Amino acid sequence: MTGPAPLLVADAVERTYSLGKDVTVPALRGVSFAVDRGDYVAIVGASGSGKSTLLNLLGALDRPTAGHVRYEGRDVRDLDDGELAELRNTRIGFVFQSFQLLPRMTARDNVALPLVYASTAPRQRRARAEAALESVGLADRMEHRPTELSGGQQQRVAIARALVTEPALVLADEPTGNLDTVTGEEIMRLLERLQAERGTALVVITHERGIAARASRLIELRDGRVVPDAAARSGR
Ligand SMILES: Nc1ncnc2c1ncn2[C@@H]1O[C@H](COP(=O)(O)OP(=O)(O)O)[C@@H](O)[C@H]1O
Ligand SMILES: [Mg+2]
Repeated sequence: MTGPAPLLVADAVERTYSLGKDVTVPALRGVSFAVDRGDYVAIVGASGSGKSTLLNLLGALDRPTAGHVRYEGRDVRDLDDGELAELRNTRIGFVFQSFQLLPRMTARDNVALPLVYASTAPRQRRARAEAALESVGLADRMEHRPTELSGGQQQRVAIARALVTEPALVLADEPTGNLDTVTGEEIMRLLERLQAERGTALVVITHERGIAARASRLIELRDGRVVPDAAARSGR
């Protein structure tokens, strides 16, 4: 009766932050949805609505206070630290607003880093990092350090780093937030092309309605809950 499990499931996910003994912040109050292989999902909502909290939970960077996150049918709660690290390092790629590249490393070494954690042999790391940089249009910037690159180029390096392990899922938290409109548009087109060509599921947080409109599904958060209207529209 049941088919293969979806790639990723959030099931009644709650996350409450504690700020000392008596103060708690309910950042997520019961969020449920599924992401299938190859999906393109946009998460929108006002500042403070819980978007980053949700993305961190989807990426197994954090654990829910209540509810479950399941990756290919496995509850993230049941994974030990080694299994969690492996999930994050080999199956999920992350792209952040602030790029988060290591400043002393070349573009090539930044991109190769996830393969170090995945225990790939050095020669292969180099070849795969170079291929990933080529795929984002940076074949001529392998030896550059982040400070020697524009914002858009730095985000391309970050995208190459996210893709170098060939993950099933890329999670992006406002990837265009530090870029001008034109460069931001280029970065989104790049993420969308890679999602379409590689069949990588893409979940992207964005403030920009234009981007959200191109996704195949839209999840709107308000005060830690999914707005029902947006959930209905996402069925289109
Ligand atoms: N580490 C934290 N400790 C305490 N409160 C937090 C923490 N991170 C986020 N919050 C609070 O949780 C709510 C949701 O935050 P966040 O997920 O960052 O929202 P968004 O990404 O939509 O702007 C906000 O009220 C925020 O202040
Ligand atoms: Mg945020």
